[in-house]
Amino acid sequence: MISVAIDGPAGAGKSTIAKKVSAELGFIYVDTGAVYRAVALACIESGTEIGNTEAVEALLPSLDISIVFLNGEQHILLGDKDVSDAIRSENVSMATSRVSAIPAVRQFLLDLQRDFAKHDNVIMDGRDIGTVVLPNAQVKIFLTASPEIRAKRRVLQLKEKGIEEDYEKVLYDIIHRDYNDTHRETAPLKAAENAVIVDTSEMTFDEAAQKIMEIIKEHTV
Ligand code: DC
Repeated sequence: MISVAIDGPAGAGKSTIAKKVSAELGFIYVDTGAVYRAVALACIESGTEIGNTEAVEALLPSLDISIVFLNGEQHILLGDKDVSDAIRSENVSMATSRVSAIPAVRQFLLDLQRDFAKHDNVIMDGRDIGTVVLPNAQVKIFLTASPEIRAKRRVLQLKEKGIEEDYEKVLYDIIHRDYNDTHRETAPLKAAENAVIVDTSEMTFDEAAQKIMEIIKEHTV
């Protein structure tokens, strides 16, 4: 099995690029942020205070989170409810950044993520895929871009989904989330030692996808 780990901050283009590359290679694409988002959504819906670590931990055993693929596209289920759209709001994004810092949450989601790489060739994106989830991945890429570029991309991406967000607010949220993600004690966002770092600030998504294809080919022949 071939595993490609793509890590990096929010809005670097991970999911857009990984989707394109995985379709070309016939690999399964797993967006791991979605499972963390599902935990955050479950907290919000159940009125569980995210700052209360014990309450979040107590909620975990009752959660039934699964990833299914419909026409090759990842859907995330909470129980039997498809929450793929509900997990994308900025509100859930901020809550996810906090909930994902709780070690028990990360542990709870570990096997769910690892299982995909056991049976299929995968491109998995997240924050700690190359460092924690798939430390033996044949290809590790750290995808990044400036916060301003990432905020612009996020605003456009949300607009395409019919969600209007203010650029300054999105930029503020991105900087805040970067800080949370890189400073948490458990599995902080950082490039794996043997990761190839790709800065997409000056690249189109097609150029970045091309670059990723080249890196994967170099590491898997
Ligand atoms: O990739 P994303 O924006 O959907 O991720 C949402 C949040 O989940 C992000 O703030 C960090 C967290 N996350 C994580 O801690 N580990 C992962 N493997 C994926 C996401």
